[in-house]
Amino acid sequence: MARNQDRPFSAVQTLDGKTILITGATSGFGASCARILVTLHPARLILAVRSIERGEQFATELRTAHPNIIVDVWILDMLDYHSVQALAQRCTTLPRLDIAILNAGINAFEPKYSKSTGHEEILQVNYLSTALLSILLLPLLKSSKPGRLTISGSAIGLHPKFPERKITPQLVKADDVVVNNVDPGFSAMTGFSKDVPAAAKIVIGVLSAVMGRTAEQGAWTYVDAAVVKGKESHGSFIVNWENYPFHALMYTEEGKKVMEQLWGETIADTGGYGVGQALDDLSHA
Ligand SMILES: NC(=O)c1ccc[n+]([C@@H]2O[C@H](COP(=O)([O-])OP(=O)(O)OC[C@H]3O[C@@H](n4cnc5c(N)ncnc54)[C@H](OP(=O)(O)O)[C@@H]3O)[C@@H](O)[C@H]2O)c1
Repeated sequence: MARNQDRPFSAVQTLDGKTILITGATSGFGASCARILVTLHPARLILAVRSIERGEQFATELRTAHPNIIVDVWILDMLDYHSVQALAQRCTTLPRLDIAILNAGINAFEPKYSKSTGHEEILQVNYLSTALLSILLLPLLKSSKPGRLTISGSAIGLHPKFPERKITPQLVKADDVVVNNVDPGFSAMTGFSKDVPAAAKIVIGVLSAVMGRTAEQGAWTYVDAAVVKGKESHGSFIVNWENYPFHALMYTEEGKKVMEQLWGETIADTGGYGVGQALDDLSHA
């Protein structure tokens, strides 16, 4: 697919008074996105990271360049549901949370399993813990409405064939929280391919140089999804700056059953970590 690497817009509204959370902010797209966000003057930026030491190092860079912005470093290990729940609970101490960008994710070439949950690590980090954190943050984002929840994803393997595009989120309305999913694009200039075998690294590096994005170009896709795009992007998968269909299966009756089953299994797996209360808060708020 041909890609527009650079953002197709120039002006971006400032983020005066806003509080923003970004996960996985110590490298790659997440760090580049944090660097962009501070130039938009939010009141507070929370870096949710798995290494406090690296997080503080990066926060010092941001604080030095933008002394008027509060930059916090909060621990998050998405291999462990307890850590995800603890981060979400810590967020409830904030007066408000306007934007959450869930960027943390991994790529692995050998299967590894979370010591905490027993699940395969990609499934745990990229899907299950991301789903849990999304659900737990929604009530707070809704109470700061209009909140924004942008989740990083990947369009690899998707081929648009259907005119349908959005999948209407069931938990919140666009007036309360705009939820969207964005593919930041392919890049070997982040840490994402750091564990690939040496030969594959060369191929990925060449492909990335020819058709990939820099970390900064990818980071702008997050800013586009979380700040520039509006309510029309609620429930959208944004690829190459535009709404894009999800997997074709998701628009079929069979796909709807699969999604219902996935939702049930996700709630069952994450149920012990505050999901019931969050869903209750969402239905009553
Ligand atoms: N690069 C691509 O081609 C590509 C394509 C499509 C989508 N994406 C998505 O883009 C997102 C960012 O990836 P990237 O390319 O910027 O790679 P990256 O440089 O490796 O960044 C991933 C970030 O996630 C954090 N992370 C990993 N495991 C974590 C855990 N268990 N708990 C908390 N944080 C964790 C990492 O923390 P550490 O710094 O501690 O490792 C890092 O900050 C990912 O969700 C990925 O799926 C990437």
